[in-house]
Amino acid sequence: MAQIIYFKQLTSTNDYAKEHIDELEHQSIIYTDLQTKGKGRMGKNWSAKGENILMSLVYKNQIGDISLFPLLSALAVAKTLQQQIDFPVQIKWPNDIILNQKKICGILCESIIGGAQTHVVCGIGINVNMTQEQFEIDRLPYATSLQVELNRTFDRLPIIKQVGQQMNQLVSQFQQNGFLALKQEYEELLINRGKQVQVIYQNQVKTGIALGITEAGNLICDCDGERLFIHSGEASVRGLYGYV
Ligand code: BTN
Repeated sequence: MAQIIYFKQLTSTNDYAKEHIDELEHQSIIYTDLQTKGKGRMGKNWSAKGENILMSLVYKNQIGDISLFPLLSALAVAKTLQQQIDFPVQIKWPNDIILNQKKICGILCESIIGGAQTHVVCGIGINVNMTQEQFEIDRLPYATSLQVELNRTFDRLPIIKQVGQQMNQLVSQFQQNGFLALKQEYEELLINRGKQVQVIYQNQVKTGIALGITEAGNLICDCDGERLFIHSGEASVRGLYGYV
């Protein structure tokens, strides 16, 4: 296991990892209690009050395809949570983790490109000991935490270590054997599959049924008989996060 580095407070674990990438070992884990400028996907912020997991995993000098790191991170978190709590966990494409129809974890992967090699920082925010009251104050009706769902508090460090180990295994499996076997595991957890989804395709809002993902990690949607491959963005799932 590589280094695990803890800070009481940071602006963002992803920003710290990117700024200190030269000093950090491959597979390092950075975690903190509080982020003052936590970043979410698509320019949103990620504020997490209470005892939650705010961590980044560092993968240095990657030479292969890095576009699947967000999906691998989602699988690593989903598998870890399933083992920790013995409760069904699902993935909303590309990388939200869902427990009991609500979001429990968000993931933001960033890369630093330097010549032929790329460093990847996988930022993971898991709501662990956040209370229902805190979600209400923060007006987050579609979020949940381990504490809310299971009615007890959790130690964060064992979960952080397990996510790191799980991700290291998945990255090496992916690099040795490709994504095919992992794609099946991912699709088994995919909440979008077989459901009505709303996606943005070529700047247009489209509605269709999600069929699964491609080997490149794109979401496959059947929109009125036309098969669309969604490369990036969101796929709102009917019945989830208020989408009716
Ligand atoms: C999302 O919008 O769903 C992604 C949220 C990612 C949040 C995590 S918390 C740890 C890491 N550091 C950040 O600044 N963001 C990610």
